[in-house]
Amino acid sequence: MSVHSMSARSDAEVAARVDALIAGMTVAEKAGQLTQYFYFDIPSPDQPGGGNTGGAEAPGPGFAGQGNTVEAALARGEVGSLLFVTDPAQANRLQRLAIEGNRHGIPVLFGFDVIHGLRTIFPVPIAMAASWDPGVIERGQAVAAREARAVGIHWAFAPMVDIARDPRWGRIVEGAGEDPYLGAAVAAAQVRGFQGDDPGSPGRVISGPKHFAGYGAALGGRDYDEVNLSDSELWNVYLPPFKAAVDAGAGNIMTAYMDLNGVPATGNHWLLTEILRGTWGFGGFLVSDAQAVHNLRTHGFAADLTDAGARALGAGVDMEMAIGDPAYAHLPEAIAAGLADEAALDACVRRVLAAKVRMGLLDQPYVDEDQAREVLADPAHRAAAREAAQRSAVLLRNEGGLLPLADAGSIAVIGPLADSRRDILGPWVFDFDLDETVTVLDGIRNRAGQGAEVRYAPGIRPAQRVFPSMFDMFANNAPAEPAAFDDTAELARAVTLAHESDVAVVVLGEWQNMIGEAASRSRLELPGEQLALLQAVVATGTPVVLLVMNGRPLDLRWAAEHVPAILDIWYPGTQGGAAVADLLFGDVAPGGKLPFSWPRTVGQVPLVYSHTISHEPANQGRRYWDEESTPLYPFGHGLSYGRFEYRALTLDRDRIQAGETVTASVTVTNTGERAGDEVAQLYIHQRHGTASRPVRELKGFQRFTLAPGESRTLEFPLGPGELRYWNAAARDWVIDATTIDVFAGGDSAAELTASFTITG
Ligand code: BGC
Repeated sequence: MSVHSMSARSDAEVAARVDALIAGMTVAEKAGQLTQYFYFDIPSPDQPGGGNTGGAEAPGPGFAGQGNTVEAALARGEVGSLLFVTDPAQANRLQRLAIEGNRHGIPVLFGFDVIHGLRTIFPVPIAMAASWDPGVIERGQAVAAREARAVGIHWAFAPMVDIARDPRWGRIVEGAGEDPYLGAAVAAAQVRGFQGDDPGSPGRVISGPKHFAGYGAALGGRDYDEVNLSDSELWNVYLPPFKAAVDAGAGNIMTAYMDLNGVPATGNHWLLTEILRGTWGFGGFLVSDAQAVHNLRTHGFAADLTDAGARALGAGVDMEMAIGDPAYAHLPEAIAAGLADEAALDACVRRVLAAKVRMGLLDQPYVDEDQAREVLADPAHRAAAREAAQRSAVLLRNEGGLLPLADAGSIAVIGPLADSRRDILGPWVFDFDLDETVTVLDGIRNRAGQGAEVRYAPGIRPAQRVFPSMFDMFANNAPAEPAAFDDTAELARAVTLAHESDVAVVVLGEWQNMIGEAASRSRLELPGEQLALLQAVVATGTPVVLLVMNGRPLDLRWAAEHVPAILDIWYPGTQGGAAVADLLFGDVAPGGKLPFSWPRTVGQVPLVYSHTISHEPANQGRRYWDEESTPLYPFGHGLSYGRFEYRALTLDRDRIQAGETVTASVTVTNTGERAGDEVAQLYIHQRHGTASRPVRELKGFQRFTLAPGESRTLEFPLGPGELRYWNAAARDWVIDATTIDVFAGGDSAAELTASFTITG
């Protein structure tokens, strides 16, 4: 389905309105339509769009004086879009300037990073992916879209669908992890959530999957650094989530910052025009990442800004996202000098104008400020965020059934992250409301029964980044240094508290400014004194539940041996603490699964379950002499309060011809004593063929709840979509004549197996 067929406005109507507008436009006005500017407006808390971020300055020197430059460009009628405006009154004011400044009365599109919620903050994207629940993911982004549209935003720079296989890269938190099949399902669900059937309809926004393409494979996990991907990795691993997003009708795509195989992604004609538009038929518009057109000069690719603009346009970038001094302002010069083609310029302008027509902007450019207030306050949005947080938590370990906790007794809550409103929200949020944010400590206090005693001690001070990030310029982003903190006394207080309690709930992980963009790390250990705190608490002999607050796998080797219960809660959002309490006390059962292989130590990365098999496969787990080369927890791992047994894996046929479908079925029974949630997973392995294929590849999954003793039989079709792969020798998609092993179970180490043959 293309974006065209999704629009409620007919293609003919859109084309007619675009034709009428473009006919009278000068080259400078056209270049203006292709320019998007940052506009920094961080509202105060009493404004309808304002959260507790109030008072933050524009983040960084590059943004200084932005407002004046942008308003001058609006007055000249040379702005196509603005980003970072989230206050509806401000959006209306700027829109009026745009319409009055433009001879044709063309409004601007407002775009924003609506990554995991606007006011109601949902769990971070990697957490949402860990739900393995496309329905909950779609509903979450529908809530985000509704809030965004209410404040005047037309377009979300999301989802990030970059595959991430190196957790040193901070942006792993923004995606769906290591796997292309899960990544594609999550990408499509998010696009549907943002856009519904028509991004122009009320409460919907244009979705802009990013960053095209390969950004997650940055060398050394260092954000923005070069990416070198083989043909096979590109087609089989990194591109499928983008293809799924395009097929789901995404109206926009954002380019990536880095070089891909030696050519900057933002100047890459092959990628942007031949693959995206040509092979895939993408009909929406393309935007560059922030300053990425400008950067074509930095890469040593373009000679100067005029060349940068001309080459980005030539590669297929419709709109430049500019921090300042846009390269696209030089397009008139580039056209006059014959470096760029006016027909190409017109094609880009048409795509941008078409998006404005489809969004209904020409008919209703303004936003209703009262309605914004109402939508942002909707309690149904908080309920959806709570459900999403419940469904995204992953129970990594539960020795002796320590979880769920009993209602009564005394609970020690320990660790600075347990009591941090800002950190539980995670990175990439700006319009949150800290007052309504429920911390883990709040959640446990609210939920624990009358007879329970809940006491808190941080134990240690927050850890800090060695090098701050641009995001730390926003108020509340870096953790505050506590005043007068006596390290020895505080540690002793936490240990005493644990000692005096029936159970200790210890919350450890990374502060949210340690993960996300510009948040790569060279190590995976718990930052600061957290491991020492954990060890001191465990040494008291009080049973410990470890809650991990994170967006990347951390080195949990010690905990995995010494702590009986470990629940990965990620950054669970506005209602995070309430959801965590629901899980701890067994009001709901956890059922999330890891969307990546959890390494033991940073030296193993990148580590993926879908590796190929080579010399000495029996020694796969002994590739290093100093540490296991297997993951600490496999991809797809996650426990529940039930216990699941898989049996009767059968195939409806044992032989098919290439192009046909075989259906696998498997029966799952909850043999435990409590209800539980499970995600059944289906993997394949191709025994031989015209290329080597991975030892396991995910090709199906289903999440469900089972009461104790209950069984369910599930079906997984395996057809051409699941069985074909990109063959780097043939440079094409192939289905080999071969034998396929099928595995079904609760994680990527599943052992239950069956096989079938494909004939040529
Ligand atoms: C990020 C994008 C983001 C853009 C606008 C860039 O630095 O890479 O993901 O959408 O900024 O905030």
